[in-house]
Amino acid sequence: MKALEGVRILDFTHVQSGPTCTQLLAWFGADVIKVERPGTGDITRGQLRDIPNVDSLYFTMLNHNKRSITLDTKNPKGKEVLEGLIRTCDVLVENFAPGVLDRMGLTWARIQELNPKMIVASIKGFGPGDYEDCKVYENVAQCAGGSASTTGFRDGPPLVTGAQIGDSGTGLHLALGIVTALFHRTKTGRGQRVNCAMQDGVLNLCRVKLRDQQRLAHGPLKEYSQFGEGIPFGDAVPRAGNDSGGGQPGRILKCKGWETDPNAYIYFITQAPVWEAICDVIGEPEWKTHPDYATPPARLPRLNEIFGRIEQWTMTKDKFEAMDILNKYDIPCGPILSMKEIAEDKSLRATGTVVEVDHPTRGKYLSVGNPIKLSDSPSEVVRSPLLGEHTDEILREVLKYTEEQISEIEASGATGAAPRMAAE
Ligand code: COA
Repeated sequence: MKALEGVRILDFTHVQSGPTCTQLLAWFGADVIKVERPGTGDITRGQLRDIPNVDSLYFTMLNHNKRSITLDTKNPKGKEVLEGLIRTCDVLVENFAPGVLDRMGLTWARIQELNPKMIVASIKGFGPGDYEDCKVYENVAQCAGGSASTTGFRDGPPLVTGAQIGDSGTGLHLALGIVTALFHRTKTGRGQRVNCAMQDGVLNLCRVKLRDQQRLAHGPLKEYSQFGEGIPFGDAVPRAGNDSGGGQPGRILKCKGWETDPNAYIYFITQAPVWEAICDVIGEPEWKTHPDYATPPARLPRLNEIFGRIEQWTMTKDKFEAMDILNKYDIPCGPILSMKEIAEDKSLRATGTVVEVDHPTRGKYLSVGNPIKLSDSPSEVVRSPLLGEHTDEILREVLKYTEEQISEIEASGATGAAPRMAAE
């Protein structure tokens, strides 16, 4: 039995943030019913397509283990079906623009009337305040949540990161909110609302930068390269390049082949307890006792020089050779892995973190499996549904509609055309 077996999710999500959340719940065994607009479905089905008329990887990689029902919720029959689903599901998850659910007639009061045990979980760009009505995508959240202003190099513009901390990050936060509300419901018997704003989710992931903002009031941030370079700090946390965000200085350093391979780099951390081993490895044994290098505070103003010297050593090894040598001494380091290397990584395949999935119209593709491993509830990745693939099944099995009722719903146009089963 899977951890969330028996929990039924009405998945009214689209694009990335909401689908990330419901995919996680589906991996843990929840029955996730994705409601999609007839004809088009989740807009990502058609976005960034690599193969004509086939669900995009954008869609397939965010919607595994779900069932799809097509429903025009603005059609009276469609609304009837939707309300039926609200009566039978435990959680409604949505990430529409602000006000959309209310405009559909699904106010909190109405939902409670239909099902007082229902948990309604929402992602919006911003919480209450100046921007609460704004539509928001990933990079907007990264900018408004403090990530962009603290990412990049000091002398360059703010940067967004490749990690989707606004969308997938907030989806992850919301999933925790949902299971917490489900746990709470076991004691209260009532549902509740769970709200996550993408700005808040990003800020939560950037909390070390708010830490540094406050430290600035008490003096320069000595672990930032800028300190060693003698450049004064302003009144806001600066961008810190690849400086480590923690108490152990770190940098990305070139390795053998960096001239032609854009990923021939290693992240190297000069953790204090292994300083002596680092000195031996790079051939500077006298730095173990020299007053300019022997202690962490003495090293802080000299980090550029120190990492420059370490880089002279890393440039003589490829990133995997360097890893092998450094790991022997427990020196924390990590290779900069390209997506190609990750796709081919044997360990990630073995643990199910990278999985190959077969899809009826696309064929085989790679996806990221569940990164959260439960010993008693392991996840198998099941391909994403075709648009409306489970419409009949859901009407019949979940809502217990008769054939006559189903024909009536279909005749009303509420469920749209039959699902596509093969590439057109
Ligand atoms: N049947 C009929 N209508 C449907 C429907 C269905 N099954 N599903 C959705 N719709 C309608 C809604 O009723 C709404 O119509 P309305 O504006 O007339 O009320 C519309 O489709 C969806 O609206 P919206 O959410 O505004 O979509 P959008 O494409 O314009 O905006 C976002 C997309 C992501 C910007 C917006 O949804 C948003 O800001 N979401 C919250 C933040 C978020 O999650 N952002 C990240 C996404 S990865």
